[in-house]
Amino acid sequence: MSPDSTVIILAAFSVTFVVLGLFTFSVLMMIRNHKKVVAAQRERIRQMQLFSEKLQSAREEEQKRIARELHDELGGTLTSIKYDLLWLEQRTSVQGEVAQRFQIMRDLIDSTTKVVQRISAELRPKILDSFGLAVALEWQTNEFKKRTGVDANFQKLSELPPIDENVTTGVYRIVQESLTNIARHAQATSVEVKLELQNDMIHVEIIDNGKGFDKALLQHPDSLGLLSIRERARMIGGTAVIDGSPGKGTKVALDTPLHYKSFSQAKDDLT
Ligand SMILES: Nc1ncnc2c1ncn2[C@@H]1O[C@H](COP(=O)(O)OP(=O)(O)OP(=O)(O)O)[C@@H](O)[C@H]1O
Ligand SMILES: [Mg+2]
Repeated sequence: MSPDSTVIILAAFSVTFVVLGLFTFSVLMMIRNHKKVVAAQRERIRQMQLFSEKLQSAREEEQKRIARELHDELGGTLTSIKYDLLWLEQRTSVQGEVAQRFQIMRDLIDSTTKVVQRISAELRPKILDSFGLAVALEWQTNEFKKRTGVDANFQKLSELPPIDENVTTGVYRIVQESLTNIARHAQATSVEVKLELQNDMIHVEIIDNGKGFDKALLQHPDSLGLLSIRERARMIGGTAVIDGSPGKGTKVALDTPLHYKSFSQAKDDLT
């Protein structure tokens, strides 16, 4: 081999080596950048989940406060007015149209008291804190039945041990949104709400025999109610599966642990 061809071969080797080196380097850089982008995306999602947890629990606290104020302040004042009216009526022997007016005012106070109680219970049912999840879900199902006329049944299929308050609230709100969806969209004639303990987890099903829906709606950006069902389940350490198909009704199935601290709660405990 002539010295010239040795030089050419060496040069070719060097160029190939440099090109391969550059190629490997740029591939490594691309992998590194991709990893960085994925890590940043993960962090953004985590921050958003944390923010949504905080928002949800602040909303829950606020609803509790408004419910208490409405019930105690407004409800209490209405009761006082009712008794003052009675006192006045007994001391002035009213008759005819005046007596009729007294009666109308009493009826008005009674119906307003009922409205205050209803709004307060919808915001945060006292029954949930006083009697627990099963009683609250039974009450909610019966209220739904009264309001919509749809044949709704609640079944408690097993006894439940004590449950964390945030889990109880989460399950209650998921059933609430599911029933609201049925009332608004399903055109159902029958609804089943089932609650039981399965493998040490709370299992809840809300099943309707209505018109069902296209599964594509689960990913639709406007489907905030369906998203909030899944998000609330995640916040209490559980999962919610929403299953529906046109003409075949809808089923929301929730599995969640009895005790769960959300990421933001666990963080608050440390600080
Ligand atoms: N049980 C159901 N039966 C039939 N269709 C349903 C049912 N639940 C949800 N849907 C369909 O899914 C869509 C999205 O529901 P989602 O709860 O996310 O939103 P929404 O009820 O329309 O509004 P909101 O944000 O107030 O809840 C509804 O508009 C409806 O078409
Ligand atoms: Mg909805």
